[in-house]
Amino acid sequence: MESVSIRTRGLVKKYGDVTALNGVDLEVHEGETFGLLGPNGAGKTTTVKILITLAQPEAGSAQVGGVDILREPARARRLFGYVPQELTADRALTARENLRWFAGMYHLDRSTREHRVRELLDLVDLAEAADRPVRTYSGGMKKKLDLACGLIHDPKILFLDEPSLGLDVKVRADLWRYVLGLKQRGVTVFLCTNYMDEADRLCDRVAVIDRGRIAVAGTPDELRAALGGDVITLETPPEASGTLAGLAQALSTLPFVKETLADGSRLSVYVEANETALPRVLEQASARGTTIQRIAYSRPGLDEVFLKYTGHRIDEEAQRV
Ligand SMILES: Nc1ncnc2c1ncn2[C@@H]1O[C@H](COP(=O)(O)OP(=O)(O)OP(=O)(O)O)[C@@H](O)[C@H]1O
Ligand SMILES: [Mg+2]
Repeated sequence: MESVSIRTRGLVKKYGDVTALNGVDLEVHEGETFGLLGPNGAGKTTTVKILITLAQPEAGSAQVGGVDILREPARARRLFGYVPQELTADRALTARENLRWFAGMYHLDRSTREHRVRELLDLVDLAEAADRPVRTYSGGMKKKLDLACGLIHDPKILFLDEPSLGLDVKVRADLWRYVLGLKQRGVTVFLCTNYMDEADRLCDRVAVIDRGRIAVAGTPDELRAALGGDVITLETPPEASGTLAGLAQALSTLPFVKETLADGSRLSVYVEANETALPRVLEQASARGTTIQRIAYSRPGLDEVFLKYTGHRIDEEAQRV
C-alpha cells in the first residue's frame, strides 16, 4: 500500500469576510508529484501556507510526513522545503551566500552546508554565476536559485507554488527537468499551478480547487476519461458572443450532445464523437445566424477538465493578471 505523505481534512481558513478555504480534503502519496490546480484566488497558496505552518486554519487538521502540523509545527518544518510564489532570494547577496543563509536556518554543520551548496548550485546550473549578486540575475536564474534554497536541507517533501510563473519556455523546460529529477530521488512534490501542460507533464495526480473547495481529484488520465467523448469548441467574434447562450440552449436538446459550456466568446460542446456531431453543430449555428470565427475539436484535455469543474478557462491572459 502506498503511504500518505500529506493529508488534510476539512481545512477552513477565513480572512475577515473572505472564506479562502471551505473544507479542503487532500491526500498526497509518498514520492508522487501532486498538482493543485485552480484559478486565481481559488485557495492554492492558502492551502500551502497552512501546510508549511505559516498560516493557521480555523478548522480542520493536516499531517505532513506523518507529523500533525498543528500540534508539532517545529518538527514538521524540518521535513519539507518551500519555494514561494514570489521570489525570495536576497538581491544584494550572491547565490552562494543566499544558500548558506538558508543552510544556517536549518542548522546544517559547516561541511554538510558547503557540500549541499555546491551540489545545489550544480543541480540548477548556477555554479558559474554563484558569486555574483542576485540583482544581476535574470528572472529564470532567480527562480532556479529559489528552487535550490527550498532544497537546502534535502527535504523529502517539497512545496512549489507556481514555480514557472513568468518563466520563458527554455527555463520552464529546465525547471520541469529538475522537478522530474526530484521525483527520481523519491521527493514528494506538491505543486500549485495554473498551467495545464505543466500539470499534465509533471503530476502523477492532480486536484482541482475552486472557491476554497476541492472539486475533483485523480490522475490526469482519469480526469480526462471522466469527461468522456470529444469536445467541439466554437468561437465567435467578441461582439457576437451574446448569441452563444441561445446556440448552447438549442444544441443541448440534441441527443448526441452531452453537455455545453459557454465561456465568454467560446462555447464547448461535449459530444459522443466529433465526426458525426460537427456537421450538425455547424448546421445549428448557421440556422441561428451565429457567426463562427474559429472551430476546434479534440479529445478533452486537462484544460477542459478545469473548465468543467471551475467554469473558467485557463489561458495565457488569465495567468498574467
Ligand atoms: N492575507 C490575506 N488577507 C486577506 N485575504 C487573503 C489573504 N490571503 C489570501 N486571501 C484571499 O483568500 C483567497 C484565496 O487566496 P490564495 O492566495 O490562496 O489564492 P491562489 O489560488 O493562490 O491564487 P493565485 O493563483 O492568484 O495565486 C482569495 O480570495 C484571496 O483574496
Ligand atoms: Mg497563489
